[in-house]
This record gives sequence, C-alpha cells and structure tokens, in this order.
Amino acid sequence: MVVPRIVPSMKIGEIRDLIRMKPLELDATRRRLSACHDIDDLRSAGRRLIPRPVFDYVDGGSEEEVCLATNRDAFQRRRFRPRALAGVATVDTAARVLGEGLPFPLLLGPTGYTRMMHPGGEIAAARAAHRRGLPYTLSTMATTSIEDLRRAVPGAELWFQLYVMRDTGLNKELVTRAAESGYRVLMITVDTVVPGHRTRDEHNGLVIPPALTAGTLAGIAVRPGYWMRMLRNPAIEFAHIPGKAKTISGSISLFDPSITWDTVADLRTLWPGKLVLKGPLSPADARRAISAGADGIVLSNHGGRQLDRAVAPIDLVAEVRSALGPEASILVDSGIRHGADIAVALACGADAAAIGRAYLYGLMAGGEPGVDKTLALLTSQFIRTLQLLGMRSADELRAVGQDIFQHP
Ligand SMILES: Cc1cc2nc3c(=O)[nH]c(=O)nc-3n(C[C@H](O)[C@H](O)[C@H](O)COP(=O)(O)O)c2cc1C
Repeated sequence: MVVPRIVPSMKIGEIRDLIRMKPLELDATRRRLSACHDIDDLRSAGRRLIPRPVFDYVDGGSEEEVCLATNRDAFQRRRFRPRALAGVATVDTAARVLGEGLPFPLLLGPTGYTRMMHPGGEIAAARAAHRRGLPYTLSTMATTSIEDLRRAVPGAELWFQLYVMRDTGLNKELVTRAAESGYRVLMITVDTVVPGHRTRDEHNGLVIPPALTAGTLAGIAVRPGYWMRMLRNPAIEFAHIPGKAKTISGSISLFDPSITWDTVADLRTLWPGKLVLKGPLSPADARRAISAGADGIVLSNHGGRQLDRAVAPIDLVAEVRSALGPEASILVDSGIRHGADIAVALACGADAAAIGRAYLYGLMAGGEPGVDKTLALLTSQFIRTLQLLGMRSADELRAVGQDIFQHP
C-alpha cells in the first residue's frame, strides 16, 4: 500500500513555522491548571487527585441532593436580553458590601476542614482572595486558627463565621478573638442547628481527618500525591474546638439547636463590627435579621448541604430586596460556578455573591494557584458577560435589574 505524503514538498523547518508550538510546561500543577477552562474542569482535576471520600465531602449535598441540583438549575434557567452597541471597551466591576468598596462583587464563604482538601488550606484561599482584594471568611470549623490566619495575611479583609455552640463561653471567646485580630465582619450561620445528613459521607464512611484505615490504604496507590502531602504536613485539627473533636458528628454535636433570635441580639452586643446572618431563607426572616441587629444577610441553603428541598436562594433575592429596601446588604450563595451566575445575582438585586465549592475545587486541583485560577476564571467570565450584555459596569447591571431577563 502506498502511504500518501500529506505535505510532500515542505521541509520540517517550514512546517514548524506554520505550527505555533506551545512551550512545554514543566511544573505539573501549572500544566494541570492551564488545561482548566472553567470551574467544572477544576472540579474534574480535583476529582482525579483527591481520595473519593474527601472529594465527595466537598462535592456532595444532603439527603437526596435535590437542593444541590436545584441550586444550579435556578441560575442556569434564566435567559438574558442583551443591549446592543453600548460601548463596552472597558467595564467597571466595583461593588459595595456592608459599607465598603470591593473591586469585584464576590467573596469567599466559610468552609470547614479546608486543610483536608490541600495542606495550603485556609491560608492558601485567603491569600488568593487578598491578591484580588476580596474578603475571605474563616469558619468556626477551620483547621487554621483566627490568629494564625491573620499573621499569614496581615492586610487581608477577613470575616469570621460563627456556628453558635452550646458552650456560651466559647462563643464569646471566638468572637472576641476575631475582633482583636481585626476581622471586620461576623457572619452567624443559622441553618445548621442540627447536621444535615450527607448521604455520600455515610456511604464512604468518611472519617475526619482522613485516617489510614484498611479502606484508605487501598486508596494510597490510586492517589499517592494526596497522601504524601498529608503525611508531610502537620496533622489536621480543628483549630477552635476544645478537646479537638475528631469527627464531623462529634464536632457538630457541639452546636446549639436551641438558639433563637435572642441569641443573635446577645451576640450583637458582643461584636463591635458589621454583622450578617447566613442562612435565613424568607423575606420575613430577612426582616427579622435586620431587626435583631444584623447589617445584612447571606441568602444561602448551605450549598444544598443542610435542608434538602430548601428553596434556591437566588430565587429569593428579588423578594428579599423588596422587603429590606436598598440599604441592607444582601449576599447570595449556593450554586455559583460561573461569572454569569454573579451577573444573575446582581440583576436580581444582590450586592455580591459568595462561593464555597468553586474555590475548593481550585484548591483541590492545585492549592493556592488553583484558588487563583478559580478567581481568574470567575472574573473573566463576569467581565465578558457584562460586555456581551451591553453593561458598562456592575452598578449599571444592578440598576437595570430584572429587566435584563427574558420573562416567561
Ligand atoms: C466542604 C464545605 C464545607 C463548608 N463548611 C461550612 C462552614 O464551616 N460554615 C458555614 O457557614 N458554611 C459552610 N459551608 C457552606 C458554604 O459556606 C456555602 O454556603 C456553600 O458552599 C455555597 O454553595 P456552593 O458550594 O454551591 O458555592 C461549607 C460548604 C462546603 C462545600
């Protein structure tokens, strides 16, 4: 058989001139991240690198995961009606949250056990946020302490998230430490009075921190890099929990299910800065939050990890904005995976959006550079969305509001 020559008369040098060779990236993390073009790519990269129980702990939701799916659908079902020829050579992404300017309408929400995803943990995420001038929220269930994080990112805009504990002395202590370390905002989570039932964690027999059991030993062969990193770094512990409760259920049983609006009013008197409640899911509760002394709220269903079949928070933003008026700060999370989702949030009336999994996927895929990649992707997607919508600024989109959507 005669094999035809594809380019019979070309020399190798001429072919090389035609093909633009990409320089070979020798750093494995950079190579991996450069192949990630959206948040879903980061998720897939993380899934390949991280043991299944840990990946599922991040990725999963509660019960039947109805809420998890609904959160994405609520963002993706909206359709835009763009404005043509608006002169969008430059766009201004500035936003205002709780009386302070932000370069971009986004913040990194609290996530527990973050060093389990990558040893860089909370510090990696906070550094990446700080580089872009965005707030980072440290969880009560963090694996880095309030003070250690502040020392690692001295000038950063840090917020502290409180799960109200049965131990009222501990609540007071944590709030005081956060204030003394210059955390600007206290975020009290109200949707976790009892732990959500995470079905995947039950199936996987998740142990926190991941332990070298017979089951996980088998996983070492499949994910050696993860285990090498874990073994080379300090053991993962809850930084704020006395006695260092070792399991999720053990630590969550420290939370106080009897909290009421009076608890919020009490905490308000202890906290000198701005205060937000994370997790109210109705206009009535949003109003109540403001009456109890909150300066704003985060509409959230905990990313579908608590009450399954809870309403998607994005579907409440417009109603809550009407209930609270223009002054209160309204943030929204649960399901944000694309810059266009942030545009949807602003058009509905939110001041900014918050992310959980989107930055954890980046962290799992590549540590601090992975979180950088998450933020770079969301930023470029948001800017491109504004330009294609014909909006010159985030403010303009907020002002146009829901008119930007096609109404069914
Ligand atoms: C692994 C993980 C841990 C979380 N830990 C906390 C926490 O400690 N405190 C809290 O208030 N919310 C916690 N959340 C909820 C997030 O702050 C946020 O509400 C949620 O992730 C938003 O949904 P998204 O992941 O779809 O962006 C956690 C979420 C995940 C995925």
